[in-house]
Amino acid sequence: MKIVITRRIPEAGVETLVHAFGTEQVRRHEEERPMTRAVLLDALRGATAVLCTITEKMDAEAMDAAGDQLKIIANMAVGYDNINLADAAARNILVTNTPGVLTEATADLAWALILGAARRTGEAERCLRAGLWEGWGPLQFLGASVHGKTLGIFGMGRIGRAVARRALGFDMPVLYCDTNRLDAETERQLHARLVDKDTLLRESDILTLHCPLTPETRHAFTLREFKQMKRGALIVNTSRGPVIKEEDLSAALREDLIFAAGLDVYEHEPAVHAALLKQEQAVLLPHLGSATVETRATMARMAAENIVAALSGSEPPNRVLLPS
Ligand code: GLV
Repeated sequence: MKIVITRRIPEAGVETLVHAFGTEQVRRHEEERPMTRAVLLDALRGATAVLCTITEKMDAEAMDAAGDQLKIIANMAVGYDNINLADAAARNILVTNTPGVLTEATADLAWALILGAARRTGEAERCLRAGLWEGWGPLQFLGASVHGKTLGIFGMGRIGRAVARRALGFDMPVLYCDTNRLDAETERQLHARLVDKDTLLRESDILTLHCPLTPETRHAFTLREFKQMKRGALIVNTSRGPVIKEEDLSAALREDLIFAAGLDVYEHEPAVHAALLKQEQAVLLPHLGSATVETRATMARMAAENIVAALSGSEPPNRVLLPS
């Protein structure tokens, strides 16, 4: 048995694996940074199970580098666009993720970005830290009000709904766009109404993205969409970077098509579109959605528990299936 942990992760995950399989079987890669591709392929050789993160691309090449004995790839993330499900299914490799446990942390961070982008907190803090603040001013850093505005949610899964719940405290009507409709009672509780994408773009004051990255959602937000949004609107993305075409977002901010953006995820992480880095109306965080001590420990343990289940012949609790 060889269980490969591709990055330094919270101890809770390592302990679960060591407890189940013994220290010798668990190969930890203690780097803070992701392994290079060559080092990853080498580390995978002979693996029975892999506990990986979104920074490892697990495709046919990686699976073949591991070998035929590979039984499970347990992603320490809810999103699994880094794993090729068809390649895994063709090799009878189980794939699992960590749903549910990061919902609240990610919804909190979406709200941090909503409030930060609306109230220009990054820009204002940079001014203060640079020693440029000259005291209170009636016209200083005026932002956008959030209370009572219309919140648009693209992707109304667990995280989208958690963001909507928080919006109740801000008295916000919620519009949402999703392939599935919520039941009537949930819609009523969340003050939420299902709309098409054009209506979402036209009517939202604050638009927040919570969809998975799929061929359908890749570049779902380009200049065409930004042109349909309200001039004073905000867009926030805590889902996956490629859902937004970054170059177009930067152009939309430059041309004041929208008021501001709050991003936690990027098209080509860790790179960020150079122009965005210079734009004051963009609040930029380094992919922190689930980054709380408690949440990351729970995610690590959950990923490890999926491995323990799979290698002891049971169905792992968080199996991801290839869409039919
Ligand atoms: C993080 O981005 C996740 O999908 O858990």
